[in-house]
Amino acid sequence: MEEQAKNLHIVMFPWLAIGHLKPFFELAKYLARKGHKITFISTPINLQKTAKLPRNLSHLIDPVAIPFPPVDHLPPNAESSLDVPHAMRKLLKVAFDMLQPKLRSYLENMRPKPDWIIYDFASHWLPRIAEELAIKRAYFSIFCAVFMAFLGPPSALLSEEHARVTAEDFTVVPEWLPASSGMAFRHYEMARYLEKDPNEDEYDSGMTDWTRFALTVNGSDIVIFKSCDEFETEWLETVRRLYQKPVFAVGVLPPGYEECVDDDTEWSRIREFLDLHKEGSLVYVAFGSEVVLTYKETQDLALGLEKCGSPFFWVLNKGYEKLPEGFGDRVRDRGAVYSKWAPQFKILGHVAVGGFLTHCGWSSAAEALGLGRVLILLPFMNDQGINCRLLEAKKVGIEIPRNEVDGAFTSDAVAETVRTALVGEEGRSVRENARKMKELFGSESRSNSYVDTLLHHMIQTNGF
Ligand SMILES: *[C@@H]1O[C@H](CO)[C@@H](O)[C@H](O)[C@H]1NC(C)=O
Ligand SMILES: *[C@@H]1O[C@H](CO)[C@@H](O)[C@H](O)[C@H]1NC(C)=O
Repeated sequence: MEEQAKNLHIVMFPWLAIGHLKPFFELAKYLARKGHKITFISTPINLQKTAKLPRNLSHLIDPVAIPFPPVDHLPPNAESSLDVPHAMRKLLKVAFDMLQPKLRSYLENMRPKPDWIIYDFASHWLPRIAEELAIKRAYFSIFCAVFMAFLGPPSALLSEEHARVTAEDFTVVPEWLPASSGMAFRHYEMARYLEKDPNEDEYDSGMTDWTRFALTVNGSDIVIFKSCDEFETEWLETVRRLYQKPVFAVGVLPPGYEECVDDDTEWSRIREFLDLHKEGSLVYVAFGSEVVLTYKETQDLALGLEKCGSPFFWVLNKGYEKLPEGFGDRVRDRGAVYSKWAPQFKILGHVAVGGFLTHCGWSSAAEALGLGRVLILLPFMNDQGINCRLLEAKKVGIEIPRNEVDGAFTSDAVAETVRTALVGEEGRSVRENARKMKELFGSESRSNSYVDTLLHHMIQTNGF
């Protein structure tokens, strides 16, 4: 590959959420390992949290901090969605948009000029700036292709006719997708996300997420997906058709070897618990950083885990007090409820783990499939409903049955679905399909070769 002799200089600028910063940083490392230079721009605290540089890549990845702008009402040191109360989440977009002049002048003053910039959905103003400066533009979607296909082409996202406002609007398969695909949200999956806080208008950034998606996709030369062509074949074809521009899937970017060297005491304690259980017998339960379970959901989930009989490890960051009385004592010998940030990748990688009860966040689900774990699906908000449809259609997970109106589930439904997925005869083929995903989602060399294909295009279109 002689064209690789040309090293690119690539700027990366993710949205201010850990779930975005991390995949951007993983991609940065994959690109840097091929010898390309990366300028990774974010705000100071976000860089501290995510930009942990392996020693032998530190000369190739340059983290650049832009000060977080002062915004009224935002708590101090809150620079990412995790630190900002739900009702104020739009203020984070206000702050993000205020980074525009700083970023512009930084890019203007870069010598030599970078070849490419890879950005996220929120920075709707960035494609225009990059174009003025003659920097090539790539939109990197940390969402799977089918979710972006559901959102639709930029023209639809910007049109009055196709505007989706209420939860109902999201429950129909859009006209640009095959009706038979069933790709739509359930009402309760969107109602939660669209729920308005009374003060929210006051905090508004003046632009919807849908418009941001439209402008960032439309303004890009190419679109990059954190997904696999072999898994989302038809959906990647769909986005190619909808966007009419080159689309590249780079795999799910499993963390490289440089990562897994630390061995802290917290992990040792978790491992001690996991070590007590038989191979493939335990269900890992976690819903990401944004979902907060209601009282009833916490109770039904807990009672379901109690009834299922399997060992479990449940990450419950918020809402410990909603657990049923005496729960901890009753499940003491086989269940752990963990209320801190958990090393998910390591836990999922432990041999005792057989399944993952998940909110269907794309990164989490992909991580688990990369380790061959069967999924038990329980989506709540954002893109999770569509991800759930995809994972079920691909037969790598089983959804917990819900009440169609309010999304309620019973403890029996939880217990039965966990049993089916982990040990039941009807779950056997799903378990086998999930295990096969290890080769697809877990393969670093596969992601490496996808990245080679992407770089080949990035280098060629730059005229080298
Ligand atoms: C970094 O170190 C790892 C392991 O020591 C090695 O395999 C890899 O090739 C190195 N990467 C670069 C860009 O030098
Ligand atoms: C979409 O992109 C095209 C081609 O770059 C451009 O002419 C058009 O103005 C863009 N539309 C919007 C709404 O930005």
